[in-house]
Amino acid sequence: MRSATSVFLNGRILPLGEAKVSVLDRGFIFGDGVYELVPVYSRVPFRLDEHLVRLERSLAAVAMRNPYTAAQWRRHILALIEAQPHADQGLYLQVTRGVAPRDHAFPQSVEPTVFMMSNPLVNPPPAQVEHGAAAISAQDHRWLRCDIKSTSLIGNVMLRQLSAEAGAVETILFRGTRLTEASASNVFIVRRGVIASPPKDSLILPGITYDVVVELARANGMPLELREVSEKEVRAADEIWVTSSSKEVLAIVTLDGAQVGDGRPGPHFRRMYQLYQEFKRKVMRAGKTEAVSAA
Ligand SMILES: Cc1ncc(COP(=O)(O)O)c(C=O)c1O
Repeated sequence: MRSATSVFLNGRILPLGEAKVSVLDRGFIFGDGVYELVPVYSRVPFRLDEHLVRLERSLAAVAMRNPYTAAQWRRHILALIEAQPHADQGLYLQVTRGVAPRDHAFPQSVEPTVFMMSNPLVNPPPAQVEHGAAAISAQDHRWLRCDIKSTSLIGNVMLRQLSAEAGAVETILFRGTRLTEASASNVFIVRRGVIASPPKDSLILPGITYDVVVELARANGMPLELREVSEKEVRAADEIWVTSSSKEVLAIVTLDGAQVGDGRPGPHFRRMYQLYQEFKRKVMRAGKTEAVSAA
């Protein structure tokens, strides 16, 4: 039966109101957990294998046991998707180290807590895709393991709040004079027809959408460089894009109030946006995740 508020907790699908976790859960006390957000189109989870690989990597980085095999994750995820009334969803999952008396050091032999919920997918509205969005910038004051998709998100939350208060969709981050990413997305720039984005290192989250954009650019002959990008280059860019599972690819047309390029989403953005939508449609038709090929 499909109910709007079915969630998954430790192996069971149950109504949201009945899902309860102890206040001693280390996710609540320490933010001691990792997570994923998987976009679901027409009930097909997009790039699920890649999300599960990144989850495995985050768990290993914080020395947590993966409670499920990939096949078990897939089964639980598909069951939760099926339990929702909406076809397009944003499936959130988190694994915490579990419930134990408060002590920073890892507890011995506790069961991880696994929670999943799947809400209606919220993509940028068509007018924002068409006209682009505003961003501001800030210094990246987060820790040095931004490659781990940790639930300890206070740094990202504080940085995102800056742009929320400025009426902007994102906060683009510089560590010193080097571009890292944004508070909840990766960043690409285009200058003289060449797309550039920072390489995947410990200062950015290895985005699943970032990978799709890189694969689409390469498969379609769009020049692309993964290398250090300076703040100066960002401010002089013809185009700036942010990418994430929910934003997909979104053009930034003002940065700190200054126009980016001619102040409209550029031709490279339009091409990439179209390639991304075509790829999504192909995946939905196939009913499963598949590799990028040239359009
Ligand atoms: C800090 C940060 N960078 C990048 C991303 C984009 O990752 P993905 O494309 O896997 O959604 C996210 C997504 O939530 C994020 O929080």
